[in-house]
Amino acid sequence: AVGESINTDIITLTRFLTEEQTKHKEATGDFTLLCHALQFAFKSISYYIRRATLINLTGLAGTSNTTGDDQKKLDVIGNDLFISAMRSCGRVRLLVSEEEEECITFDEFPSARYAVACDPIDGSSNLDAGVSVGTIFSVYKLEEGARGTKEDLLLPGTEMVASGFTMYGASAQLVITMKGGNVNGFTLDNNFGEFILTHPNMRIPKTRAIYSVNEGNSLFWEEPVKEYINALKYPTEEGGKPYSARYIGSMVADAYRTLLYGGIFAYPADKKSPKGKLRILYECAPMAMVFENAGGLAVNSKMQRMMEVVPEHIHDRSGIFMGSEQEVQRVIDVHKKHQ
Ligand code: AHG
Ligand code: MN
Ligand code: MN
Ligand code: MN
Repeated sequence: AVGESINTDIITLTRFLTEEQTKHKEATGDFTLLCHALQFAFKSISYYIRRATLINLTGLAGTSNTTGDDQKKLDVIGNDLFISAMRSCGRVRLLVSEEEEECITFDEFPSARYAVACDPIDGSSNLDAGVSVGTIFSVYKLEEGARGTKEDLLLPGTEMVASGFTMYGASAQLVITMKGGNVNGFTLDNNFGEFILTHPNMRIPKTRAIYSVNEGNSLFWEEPVKEYINALKYPTEEGGKPYSARYIGSMVADAYRTLLYGGIFAYPADKKSPKGKLRILYECAPMAMVFENAGGLAVNSKMQRMMEVVPEHIHDRSGIFMGSEQEVQRVIDVHKKHQ
């Protein structure tokens, strides 16, 4: 019959957020409003990325950020769009961004109860080649009586109320999870201008023979990391097959594939970067929450649970291994043997 093949009962992100809010009797609607502002930031960043080569938005901005990266024009624009969305929703007190040296305090909203950390554009070295990039975010609820300084954000990932990321690929994908909840994936329908729930309750496969790491750093790797990656490439057991290598160089894209297909993504600490490269508040912790809530694991280079790592500074870095439960367990086992 007419209409049978067409879904007329679509779950948009807007509807999803409203339904989540009604599940929580104590909810005031503040978090929902904050998510609507996040949603707008993702849509607008996606829009400018897709138009970049047409409107002269490729290339460098000529500045560098506090973690030492050369900023692309789109890093700056993505950051401005994100800040403006967070400010205007009136529910955010503190904002940490990769592109801002200091934590931003929205003093016009002294009673706002949320803090957000963001990587406005992750994978920006890939921008000019049109390779997938994305946005990573984490949301914290401030303690009663929080002073509204950056120290309020030096928290372990276990304190996040929500986290997730987008990937601006063939389509814009949004992956979001809330504390103690499952992981849901949405696809931006450009005609509707809405994120549509296309991947409800994402579960990462328990195992998969794919590894994702910048192997160009192997000269600097510590012994356990070398041994682990070698074991994937040169299996010793009878009939063992070597793993496939996949590395895009945008954490969001490597993470999205890993979430869907399984396997492991790693950016270990090494002799050149003893603290690792990826940053805790807006790269490692939010990804760790997504992977754990999808049934996977995430640990740092000391094999501690990533979610429990407490940063000392807002831009602190960490090594990270995340992915399928059995794949991450294998890294942990190799490291234990070396201790
Ligand atoms: P960003 O573009 O936000 O600075 O992050 C870059 C990160 C991440 O996207 C990616 O996983 C990693 O850097 C790639 O680093 P290498 O080029 O060293 O492999
Ligand atoms: Mn950067
Ligand atoms: Mn990044
Ligand atoms: Mn970035």
